Amino acid sequence: MQQFSEIEPLRAELKTLAGVKVAFVPTMGSLHAGHLALVRRARELADFVVVSIYVNPTQFGKGEDFSTYPKSLVQDILKLEEAGADLLFTPSDEVIYPGRGESSDGGSCRVELPAVSEVLCGESRPGHFSGVATVVAKLFNIVMPDISLFGEKDFQQLHIIRRMVADLNFPIEIVGVSTVRDSDGLALSSRNEYLTLEQRSVAPELYRVLCWVVGEVKQAERAVAEIEQDGVDMLQRVGFEVDYLSLRFVNSLASVVHLNSAAQYGKEELVLLVAAKLGSTRLLDNIHFDTIS
Ligand code: PAJ
Repeated sequence: MQQFSEIEPLRAELKTLAGVKVAFVPTMGSLHAGHLALVRRARELADFVVVSIYVNPTQFGKGEDFSTYPKSLVQDILKLEEAGADLLFTPSDEVIYPGRGESSDGGSCRVELPAVSEVLCGESRPGHFSGVATVVAKLFNIVMPDISLFGEKDFQQLHIIRRMVADLNFPIEIVGVSTVRDSDGLALSSRNEYLTLEQRSVAPELYRVLCWVVGEVKQAERAVAEIEQDGVDMLQRVGFEVDYLSLRFVNSLASVVHLNSAAQYGKEELVLLVAAKLGSTRLLDNIHFDTIS
């Protein structure tokens, strides 16, 4: 696996690949089997696989875990080689945001997003998705891949990247990859490393409760808000601080208010999304499924 941390040598190398289908997997490192599933899928879909590891400061808010975000570059490199990545890009902040904060004309350009970036995670993390979209747009312009892969684990992020690519005409196909879970159901996340042993034993409740709520929704016997509230209560009882637990339409991420109306929409898919904290660790998960028949 080749490794680059500067843009120009990377571009020169990628230029030699004319006619080769390039797949790109952006990450923040501290890689686990979820990230590696994206790399393996990329390997199946393309001839050349580029992975980036960059902990992007502009997507972290004040008081979030930017400075403590887990790092394990040596192990990450071994895992990527085993998963079949061809090239790793590990830029510094100076490479991605040169002269950050020092510009004399008021800062740098950012991607502006539609209102879907202000709900769910966007509500408690203002500016987060604009930071994500901006760095992903920059990385796309640096790597210029044919396809790029993102995990369904970060469902709203995948939705927003799809919107950005469509609205701004990036000639890149976005591929979503199913969430990889531990054997007890907990979605893999670099942030799981923050959990204490006790919190780790409670964490799988998040997926268990999601599965229960989906079962209730499918029965369609009660109001959505009531079922969502039951899910919130169950999580709170075992020690989660719930940010949101919300049933949405997959295509728009708009709230599902009445199950009848969901059924009327026919083939539209639904997604149940949750964000909840255990101690100071914020966990995300979701399940998507077909509308009730
Ligand atoms: P990061 O959290 O490192 O995730 C990189 C990619 O791996 C994302 O597409 C994410 O959805 C996917 N992923 C994480 N856990 C997963 C799991 N359990 N199963 C399947 N896929 C999983 O997401 C980011 O980094 C950043 O926001 C980034 C897009 C790199 C921009 O900075």
